[in-house]
Amino acid sequence: MTPVTDLELPLQRERARTIFQKGAPGRRAFLCPELDVPRIGSDELLPERFRRGEPPRLSEVSEPEIVRHYVGLSKRNFDLDSGFYPLGSCTMKHNPRLHERAAALPGHSRLHPLQDPERAQGALELMWNLQEALTEISGLPHVSLQPSAGSHGELAGVLLTRAFHEDRREGGRVPNKVLTPDTAHGTNPATVTMAGLEVVKVATDEHGGVDIEDLRAKADADVACLMLTNPNTLGLFDPNIVEIAEIVHGVGATLYYDGANLNAVMGLSRPGDMGFDIVHFNLHKSFTQPHGGGGPGSGPIAVSDRVAPFLPVPTVSRGENGSFDLDYGRGQVGSKSIGRLRGFQGNYGCFVRAYAYICSLGGDGLKDASETAVLNANYLLARLKEAGVAEYLPLAYGELCMHEFVLSGGPMKKELKIKTLDLAKRLLDFGFHPPTVYFPLLVEEALMVEPTETETRETLDAFAEAIAQILREAATDGPEVAQNAPYTTPVRRLDEVAAAKHPLIRQVL
Ligand SMILES: Cc1ncc(COP(=O)(O)O)c(C=O)c1O
Repeated sequence: MTPVTDLELPLQRERARTIFQKGAPGRRAFLCPELDVPRIGSDELLPERFRRGEPPRLSEVSEPEIVRHYVGLSKRNFDLDSGFYPLGSCTMKHNPRLHERAAALPGHSRLHPLQDPERAQGALELMWNLQEALTEISGLPHVSLQPSAGSHGELAGVLLTRAFHEDRREGGRVPNKVLTPDTAHGTNPATVTMAGLEVVKVATDEHGGVDIEDLRAKADADVACLMLTNPNTLGLFDPNIVEIAEIVHGVGATLYYDGANLNAVMGLSRPGDMGFDIVHFNLHKSFTQPHGGGGPGSGPIAVSDRVAPFLPVPTVSRGENGSFDLDYGRGQVGSKSIGRLRGFQGNYGCFVRAYAYICSLGGDGLKDASETAVLNANYLLARLKEAGVAEYLPLAYGELCMHEFVLSGGPMKKELKIKTLDLAKRLLDFGFHPPTVYFPLLVEEALMVEPTETETRETLDAFAEAIAQILREAATDGPEVAQNAPYTTPVRRLDEVAAAKHPLIRQVL
């Protein structure tokens, strides 16, 4: 009898074909009735001289073919709706469907960005309320919703810092260095460079926090800012934050809070109270949005009084009569605003989802979400220890963590001959998206796990058991099993360097 796998081969081959290789000339998904109005392409609407000789070479497919094609592609993806996605630093929490319904309401989804503010009062009110909520959560009084991502918020923050110093020095020497810890996310130094300033690295101490002595040695009159995330990318809250703020402010610099890790501290501690001057939020992480697949993001910033005059324009304002408007006041001649950061006001759909999240949880609910995120991470850490994983994958720093933790795969590589990348690939065969690998850079063979508050205890147990099983398998059957993984995914081990350096993003016909 022919083995089933051979029978499946023609089908698999068919599925692997691109949409351009499918169909046949003249095949159609849907036939429109004849037009009884002038045809686009007729001389009256589009004169001959503007037309291309040849129609574009689009694929000609039937409706079932096109439906199967795209449904098939969607099934080849791993996403948060199909399984556990503990991608450290990315906060892949569940996106409530209620928020999608709210964002899809025609009043939101069909609103034109050039709509007269008088006729978009509901949307402006939502944005104003969101600004207010973000001031409360951050402990800083002024918000701009414009930035489109965390990294865009960082750019806004560094430009604000530069404007702040230029204003204070009035033509004098402006500090041009920005300090970033060696645990910082890559976007921090990249942003600094993009803004035309110089990056200076600050070392991490043996507890995983900022090395205070190194900070003191580097904090001088040339320093414009220190960018920090707290808890940091090791999943640890820096207990020296007040001292750090004093050192930074002592040399006249600003303190910037990378809010990507806010999921650990919402409603528990506020960056403004810790002494930060500028904060960015990743609405698409902490406040739920479908992300990670290239969906739109949102990285609003909140700032202190002394930085507020430089905020981008427009901001959303409320007049004395209670009506809402777009305030360009800061953008007028003589004002100090850094100007516009993008077209229109920001990614509005993200505002609706984030606001729905904040309203449905309320202050206590946000706090509860953060506490549960921290509890889940520590539970998973304890389960991994219990399953005997710590011998090969020890915690890189500390004993407990905040909402995420970083393990070192150094001993695993040495003893079992499998690298963190092999473990990550093998996890796919167990139905789990791998955690973040090889970040932060200072941890050997790093594995950064962020379970989030929306996962059940059973899922966390199953994940811990999968890691333990992969290690047992390497110890008994040898490293090859993990080294050649994954086996069950639509594509096997990819050349990730070539994919990143020489991406083939166009179909060659
Ligand atoms: C710690 C940290 N900072 C900044 C960013 C940048 O955020 P975004 O991806 O929204 O640009 C990330 C993103 O993963 C992050 O984890």
